[in-house]
Amino acid sequence: MEKENNIEKYIASLREKINYHNYRYYVLDDPELSDAAFDGLFRELEDLEKEHPELLTADSPTQRVGAAPLKTFETVRHVLPMLSLANCFTREEVDEFDQRIKRFLKMTGDIEYVVEAKLDGVAVELVYEMGKFLVGSTRGDGTVGEDVTLNLKTIRSLPLQLFSPKEGVIPERLSVRGEVFLGKKEFKLLNQQREEQGEPPFANPRNAAAGSLRQLDPKITATRPLDILCHGIGDVSGFSYDTHWDVLDSFSNLGFKVNPLRYKCKSIKEVINRYEGIQQKRNDLNYEIDGAVIKVNDCKLQERLGNISRSPRWAIAYKFEAHQEITTIKEIIVQVGRTGALTPVAVMEPVKVGGAEVSRATLHNQDEIDKKDVRIGDTVVVQRAGDVIPEVVKVVTSKRTGSEKKFVMPETCPVCGSDVIKSEEEAVFRCLGLSCPAKLKESLKHFASKGAMDIDGLGDKIVNQLVERGLVKDISDLYFIRMNDLVEMERLADKSAQNLLGAIDKSKGAGLERLIYALGIRHVGEHTSKVLVSNLGTLEGIMKADETTLLGIKEIGPEIGRSIVRFFKQEGNRITITRLKSAGVSFEKEKTEAERSLEGKTFVLTGSLEGFTREEAKRLVEGKGGKVSSSVSSKTDFLIAGEAPGSKLKKAEELKIGILSEEEFKRLIKK
Ligand code: IVH
Repeated sequence: MEKENNIEKYIASLREKINYHNYRYYVLDDPELSDAAFDGLFRELEDLEKEHPELLTADSPTQRVGAAPLKTFETVRHVLPMLSLANCFTREEVDEFDQRIKRFLKMTGDIEYVVEAKLDGVAVELVYEMGKFLVGSTRGDGTVGEDVTLNLKTIRSLPLQLFSPKEGVIPERLSVRGEVFLGKKEFKLLNQQREEQGEPPFANPRNAAAGSLRQLDPKITATRPLDILCHGIGDVSGFSYDTHWDVLDSFSNLGFKVNPLRYKCKSIKEVINRYEGIQQKRNDLNYEIDGAVIKVNDCKLQERLGNISRSPRWAIAYKFEAHQEITTIKEIIVQVGRTGALTPVAVMEPVKVGGAEVSRATLHNQDEIDKKDVRIGDTVVVQRAGDVIPEVVKVVTSKRTGSEKKFVMPETCPVCGSDVIKSEEEAVFRCLGLSCPAKLKESLKHFASKGAMDIDGLGDKIVNQLVERGLVKDISDLYFIRMNDLVEMERLADKSAQNLLGAIDKSKGAGLERLIYALGIRHVGEHTSKVLVSNLGTLEGIMKADETTLLGIKEIGPEIGRSIVRFFKQEGNRITITRLKSAGVSFEKEKTEAERSLEGKTFVLTGSLEGFTREEAKRLVEGKGGKVSSSVSSKTDFLIAGEAPGSKLKKAEELKIGILSEEEFKRLIKK
């Protein structure tokens, strides 16, 4: 396409290409382009839209992220109510469902069904007009939901523009129902990051997906790798379907992501077989499913069957048995994290849940405990959420004897005795003790962890002893430990002690990015540390930055900004940093490859350069790790020869030293 003649068309074709490759990557998981080639297309579109802001449209693929935060969510009325499904748990109940349908329809032969995996996510509705994504909403009460359009747009597998089907037309208006979810791997990673940043983890992938979708700031949602699978239709105009199977096929053709775990079945017997097949695949899937949905395939029959109260008569959820067991709570203890957050944890009579023994479950915070009314001594239902993390589902109140005790958060820290406060914005109680040993232990573990200073051998047991013996009162004390201090430690052989000291010493060179992350500033994870270093360059720069400076950096929001300023304002933290410096910890930025490209090379300059002064040329060489010396010797690697070179050129020729013209020097520096 000729770009100059018709820029509007060119931009449209570029968007179409990007949408298509986005679909190959995120929906089909089968890309045709390399990431770099895709990025190239994307950047070209971004540049053109900057040059021609009048041609920017809300459905452009560049507009998935970046919308401004909302104050509240608007509400959206669903054109047709979003119903829920009746549940069943046994084969007999499934047979009854089939019988009921036949009775209602006065039919005798087999009914054709579709059986699909039932995703455990968040139900949403997506409305498309003339193929363009218009509005997306949560289910809400089934009639009115919340407008989460901007957040939904950040989900890469959600089409912003539908493909034109080969046969037929794009429906004028189409509303599609689907399930937004977070993969199991992505969920684990998100929780790891949250714990590293001192934020409470999500209880399970569904809560994480729901929390991410209900963010008022779409930029936060954009950092969560949400996904969506579509499974049903709301209303549709200018189009009709014969079967549910056709609906799913046409969704696929229009560009929606549809779960491949779906089967057309000739009879209810076949449905049961397929259900068992889905159940077997359950643990291998990267997303949570909690059963299968059985649906009458024929749309006319669906219509005749209609609804009973708030559920369709033509569909049922056949749920898997939850991995749940019953046990009792012996006590509720309180753990103190790195940021001082107090987390109540239920200590239970050990019980096997789905093959793994469970004896502890986090109760998250006081609000959760109050909501579930969990008491010490209670009999409770526990399950392994996401089949990994144990959680208390509910109390079996019928088992109460009256001797159960309510839990109250302590007013002082159970570890150091300092006051505990609860801020207005969050449900978390925090210990205020500056030198609380529990906080210190967690800070040290974080400081030594892989992504931080990576101190091999500084495990939990050693950290505990270092703190309990008073050898370490602050992270900088680590660098002042001597062999003598370690000899008395339990289970630490001389050799291990030596290795540990070696590892501590080595960590001094971890570099500024890791160091910033290792300091454990709230909300500053590995990525933010890198952003800070690449924008502000030095530790002094970061320490000096005020909120306005920090907010000027893309990717740093007000909460992170405030947290950084608050951290460096603390006298204690400033002292720690001074001590780290005096111990020889490097505050240097880790050099990039480009910054090391001339390492070990010595240059000499002669004559005058057109493009740079000598000082500038010197700085450029040094910026890439090279050295500049004033006279030519056998140690010189290159002579940079400008106009009217002097005797140095002759000497270099004699010594057969590489001679660079100004052009060649420029090229070398650019690399
Ligand atoms: S069909 C009338 N199919 O489960 C409702 N729902 O418990 C028709 N769900 O609200 C829903 N996977 O959000 C359908 N393959 C699937 C599903 C599915 C998950 C959710 C859906 C619904 C909830 C009901």
